[in-house]
Amino acid sequence: TRNPVGKLLLFGATGDLSQRMLLPSLFNLHSDGLLPEGLTITGTARSDHDDASFREFAAKALDTFLPDDRKDADKIASFLERVQYQSLDASSTDGFPALAEKVGDVSNGLAIYLSTAPSLFESTIKGLESVGLAGETVRIGLEKPLGYDLASSKEINDAVAFGFPEERTFRIDHYLGKETVQNILALRFGNFFFEPIWNAHGIDNVQITIAETVGLEDRAGYYEGAGALRDMVQNHILQLLALVAMEPPARYDGTAIRDEKAKVFRSLRLMTPEEVPNNTVTGQYADGAVGGKIVGSYADELGKPSKTETFVAIKAHVDNWRWQGVPFYLRTGKRMAARRSEIAIQFKPVPHSMFAGRGGLLQPNTLVIRLQPEEYIQLLVMAKEPGLDRDGIRLREVPLNLSLDAEFAGTRRRIAYERLLLDLIEGDQTLFVRRDEVEAQWTWIDAIRAGWDANDVKPKTYPSGSWGPSSAIALTERDGVHWQDD
Ligand code: BG6
Repeated sequence: TRNPVGKLLLFGATGDLSQRMLLPSLFNLHSDGLLPEGLTITGTARSDHDDASFREFAAKALDTFLPDDRKDADKIASFLERVQYQSLDASSTDGFPALAEKVGDVSNGLAIYLSTAPSLFESTIKGLESVGLAGETVRIGLEKPLGYDLASSKEINDAVAFGFPEERTFRIDHYLGKETVQNILALRFGNFFFEPIWNAHGIDNVQITIAETVGLEDRAGYYEGAGALRDMVQNHILQLLALVAMEPPARYDGTAIRDEKAKVFRSLRLMTPEEVPNNTVTGQYADGAVGGKIVGSYADELGKPSKTETFVAIKAHVDNWRWQGVPFYLRTGKRMAARRSEIAIQFKPVPHSMFAGRGGLLQPNTLVIRLQPEEYIQLLVMAKEPGLDRDGIRLREVPLNLSLDAEFAGTRRRIAYERLLLDLIEGDQTLFVRRDEVEAQWTWIDAIRAGWDANDVKPKTYPSGSWGPSSAIALTERDGVHWQDD
């Protein structure tokens, strides 16, 4: 049941995420007629703006980050009419009465989006509480990072729970807003033929890769304290893992889906400190070249030596009946050879090959779900090569290809935040992360960090533009498994 609010309040309105993603997404929703009529958007941040100068600021962000074919002047003008601004120092409650006055009556519902430093969460919630902006009609969306370990994440969750019960708390993992991520559910549970073999009998291993070509960007302050494990694995990669590994939910709704995901997180095998070095690889990028461009090392970008990992690979296990003995190889890194997010599911080999000696080696089937930069689903199967081979029949691996880009060519590819902002505004929690999920994710992550600390693990350097340290290759090769497609 969707229950749209009448107002939106955006904390961190002048920040990077707001300019790149949130304002363009809200504009796209407006432009497609998807925002509730009369919905007003109040931006707030520390920066000094009045309504007019913030509208200029927003117009500039749209001009910079929207593709040209979306820049409809009339629609931009009507969008900006929804927008107003109130500057605020969220570290004290002093400014909140003025904010509340600006927002006005919230009896028709208010959705708040917090895209601020987590150090401000607690004071922000107190401020909102103090002026009646945390009541029954108000819901809150929280952008990461939600803590840096289990203890700090609990603190944040407690601080939020002081003002907002779980039904009104929307924790964002923007990967869940991506079409192809939701497509994992469609593929698994909208079709019959995968599910009967989607288990340890049918699947040999699962690989999840999120490789990026960007480096530190302008995020030293945050990234240096986080590293790849917290920045990408705790949230995005584990969410992908859960969608692949979960039991079939009974319904497409927030309760059923999140119950099943939470069970997966609780089934992740916790590593002991002794097991960690053998099952994880960390790296940090050195000088190199990405896409033909020479780039500097992480330490150079940062301006000092650092022990923060910009790459991590992990061999994980889900300890339940379905997945017993199936390794989940996870990896993510900055300054990799290519930008590529994908899930590869390698099935078991055929039990017996009748082609032995007469047709070459059979490759086990692989299902590849490519999330970006392209969006496709490929099932790699063995087929006969055309020809009159005297020795028998020559087989080759070929893709059965579902290109979502081609199949839905007329459909605009939406920003993940469009889905999530719309669901926040309309009150659908399906694609948001529940507290028990986050806490189970952190429990597993903390065990890995503890293992790194106990063994004084330092990241190995890898050249920018590579697929990470060579030990990441060894992590799978020693099990006789190749990373898909390197
Ligand atoms: C963010 C991380 O959550 O996800 C960034 O903080 C990363 O470090 C980004 O670059 C990747 O998102 P996407 O959608 O570009 O794959």
